[in-house]
Amino acid sequence: MTVLDREAFKRTVVVPALKVKKEIVHHVLKSLKQSVLQRPGLKRVVEDPEDEDSRFVILDPHKVPEFSLGEAKQQVLRQLSVHPEVCRYQLELSYENFKSEEILRAVLPQGQEVTSGFSRVGHIAHLNLRDHQLPYRHLIGQVIMDKNPGITCVVNKTNIIDSTYRNFEMEVLAGENNLVTKVKENNISYELDFSKVYWNPRLSTEHGRIVELLRAGDVLFDVFAGVGPFAIPAAKRSCRVFANDLNPDSYSWLLHNCRLNKVDTKVRAFNMDGRDFLRGPVREELSKELPLLKEEQKTAFHVVMNLPALAVEFLDVFRHLLVGEPCSPAALPTVHCYGFSKHSDPARDIQERAEAALGTSLAGCCSTVLVRNVAPNKEMLCLSFQIPADVLYKRPCPDEGQTFQILESQSHQCPAATVTNKGISKGLRYPMQNTLQQTEISAEDQALQQETGKFRPYALVAKRIPPRSAALYVPSKARQASLALTQSFDSDY
Ligand SMILES: C[S@@+](CC[C@H](N)C(=O)[O-])C[C@H]1O[C@@H](n2cnc3c(N)ncnc32)[C@H](O)[C@@H]1O
Repeated sequence: MTVLDREAFKRTVVVPALKVKKEIVHHVLKSLKQSVLQRPGLKRVVEDPEDEDSRFVILDPHKVPEFSLGEAKQQVLRQLSVHPEVCRYQLELSYENFKSEEILRAVLPQGQEVTSGFSRVGHIAHLNLRDHQLPYRHLIGQVIMDKNPGITCVVNKTNIIDSTYRNFEMEVLAGENNLVTKVKENNISYELDFSKVYWNPRLSTEHGRIVELLRAGDVLFDVFAGVGPFAIPAAKRSCRVFANDLNPDSYSWLLHNCRLNKVDTKVRAFNMDGRDFLRGPVREELSKELPLLKEEQKTAFHVVMNLPALAVEFLDVFRHLLVGEPCSPAALPTVHCYGFSKHSDPARDIQERAEAALGTSLAGCCSTVLVRNVAPNKEMLCLSFQIPADVLYKRPCPDEGQTFQILESQSHQCPAATVTNKGISKGLRYPMQNTLQQTEISAEDQALQQETGKFRPYALVAKRIPPRSAALYVPSKARQASLALTQSFDSDY
């Protein structure tokens, strides 16, 4: 069946039942709670057409096999003066009386995995069907809509979530073609177009956890704000909020939700790339506010970066961000940076990638929280740390930003390029996300390393040409120059 035929579920079945006097029905129900039939839309107690003083208590045939109650239950019934003999009752069943799993199991080919799991976003049920279920997708959608009050639209993901804006293409399987919905999270309402923006109901605890860290008067910079699930509750706590999203639709819904929740005067919204936001409004605000802070003032500055596939790669922006400004070591901003990891030690993995981007060690001054398991062997984590003063205020070393030449490349399409200090790490200790994880170090370099105890300054650049590949760069100059570079890099990292 690929089109739902509700009539096909109409049938008459013979089930066990107990005939009892109507005065003691509730005692019997209480004593036989485990054996009474529980079905959507079915009465457990029905009238006896031949005896208006009696009722039939319908029992579950799976719990009362062969129409016989066990000795213990018979004893209980005798104490209630009920004759424990089970009779046969003809029960009319229809589509309404079946659970969604039962319907799907009945209509999908035998042996096929039945799934009726979905996430709910307002009136929308959102499925992620497997290939073998696709021929039955409309039927599955219809069953889910029928069986879940309040769901009036069922959609299926049609691609994996790898768009820039983290939304995904979807097909409406059943119900109205209306993807503008209203959701409530941690007592705050949001409106959004689910086809155009990112919303994940599984992040509510994490949103709440971060917001709990904020106090009135604190400043929150939300680099990848979406429709506002960090920004709006933070503003409700009387924080000053700078919220940004590159997606123009997210930006519009963010503004809308600020108005909806009456915090539009507390949230400044931006529609730009995260790097530009950090280098522009965030830098400007930190330069203005940090030097004015008095010792006794407890204002904290938080930066939230929830774009787990990429956020770690944005951390290099903090390097030298406040060069030339008076250093305020008492009020260094705290970053909460999200990342995915498939590593056996995900916390170490995300910390090492962050250290590579920042060019400094975070040992002993960061913490990691496991946010959720995204897929088998794939975790989402949040790394929190105060940005070290050296990272923010130290001048870049003069060699950074010079031209390198590709010595060896994993990606033959990578052009020779000018690489900035972005992604440069010592040797191969910190391969960047999505780049080569292992590359052989040449014998010459190994000798150099043993001789000097130092690594040659490889730069791993996460250029996505082609996607998910990277090139390995070394300085273009001769060994002498490269050694000199090693010294200067080492002093900086
Ligand atoms: C995973 S969502 C998180 C949204 C929201 N913070 C939340 O917790 O639900 C990431 C957001 O980053 C935005 N985004 C993607 N690339 C960006 C970039 N380069 N600069 C700024 N925002 C970006 C997407 O549009 C999306 O709304």
